[in-house]
Amino acid sequence: MSPYAHAQNKHMRIVLGVCGSVAAYKACGLVSTLVQRGDEVEVILTADAQRFVAPLSFAALTRRPVASDLWDQQVALQHIDLVRRADLLVIAPATAHMIAKLALGLADDLLSTAALAATIPMVLAPAMNSAMYEHPATQAHLATLRGRGVRIVEPGSGFLAEREQGVGRLAEQADIIQMIDAALQPVPTTRLSRVLITAGPTREPLDPVRFISNAATGETGIALARVAKERGAHVRLLLGPTSLPVPAGIDVVRVTTAAQMWDAALSAVEFAPELVVATAAVADHRPREISAHKLKKGRDSFDLVEFVPTEDIVLGLRQALPDAFVVGFAAETEEHQIHATRKLVAKNLDAIVVNDVRDGRGFGPVVNHAVVHFADGASVDFGPLPKMTFAQRFLDVLEEHI
Ligand code: C5P
Repeated sequence: MSPYAHAQNKHMRIVLGVCGSVAAYKACGLVSTLVQRGDEVEVILTADAQRFVAPLSFAALTRRPVASDLWDQQVALQHIDLVRRADLLVIAPATAHMIAKLALGLADDLLSTAALAATIPMVLAPAMNSAMYEHPATQAHLATLRGRGVRIVEPGSGFLAEREQGVGRLAEQADIIQMIDAALQPVPTTRLSRVLITAGPTREPLDPVRFISNAATGETGIALARVAKERGAHVRLLLGPTSLPVPAGIDVVRVTTAAQMWDAALSAVEFAPELVVATAAVADHRPREISAHKLKKGRDSFDLVEFVPTEDIVLGLRQALPDAFVVGFAAETEEHQIHATRKLVAKNLDAIVVNDVRDGRGFGPVVNHAVVHFADGASVDFGPLPKMTFAQRFLDVLEEHI
């Protein structure tokens, strides 16, 4: 690492990997900006990237040879040397295939081999068709990479090369550069030593094979857990059913039903968290009785199923932890502020975060628009943000408030 990269983010040594995407041409602009501000950039082009942009463009911009061949006889161990002498590895644009390779640890070309050998911070800026980006495989790979500390610059929404609107456009250059700078900043430390987070949906069984649930994935709660842990807090995460991976170092209690989350919450009281953040989309009701056998098609009319309320977990935590700062979440489709502040008062919370979930917004790997209202009347509108960025800014705001 160059001595002043951390201190001022000046003159960084960056290895920029470019993959085969229509957006590869935008990497030329990125290199140009980085070079103009004084960074040293070495470019690795994949074979497919060279179908879109010629190595000469990058060689001219960086005034350095462009690397692309793992089997270059002139430069042995190039994959190791490139990342050893750099401060940061950036891959922009990163294709679905490259993201999958990195998540799995596959190394079959110079860029993926260098990435596997890299112990420096890594920034990925994905670019692809929206169906590919939203595919569960791509999302799982991105979640795996995030779990390892890779910073992902979320793609934007807009006009795609397929002549359709969608998510998957390479992020704007300014956003990539902001992430590059952030990647070398020391992670802020938190004053909070213990944080309790609830996340994910719950499942309330009707019979041995059916259940009532909702569209929550736990992504926001997991992102908050990650950020709090990275900043040095001891984090306990009560997590409903989700396929998203949880970063190492977080104390996870996996639950399925609201009753199990309630039990886990009661057990967490002795953990004495200073901050409780209830992001979980807990079912409000459960069937009074669970059929011992699979309910048969013709026989049962489902309005015969009687529902009873579940335990209110965040309310229970509020009552059991009077000194903790307790934050609830409210997913609303109308009159957001009225409903949210009503919940804030009813549950005696210190703050409530309102998410607008009209038209399927708010669930899964999407940009989220959150507003936090504090019990003292203050509020902060975070605007539309990727969930990871929201988690960082939200914790900053909470720390100021607590
Ligand atoms: O009352 P409502 O479900 O809208 O309130 C949302 C907030 O309450 C969220 O923070 C959610 O995690 C929490 N909650 C809970 N237990 C329940 C229902 C909601 O902790 N049974």
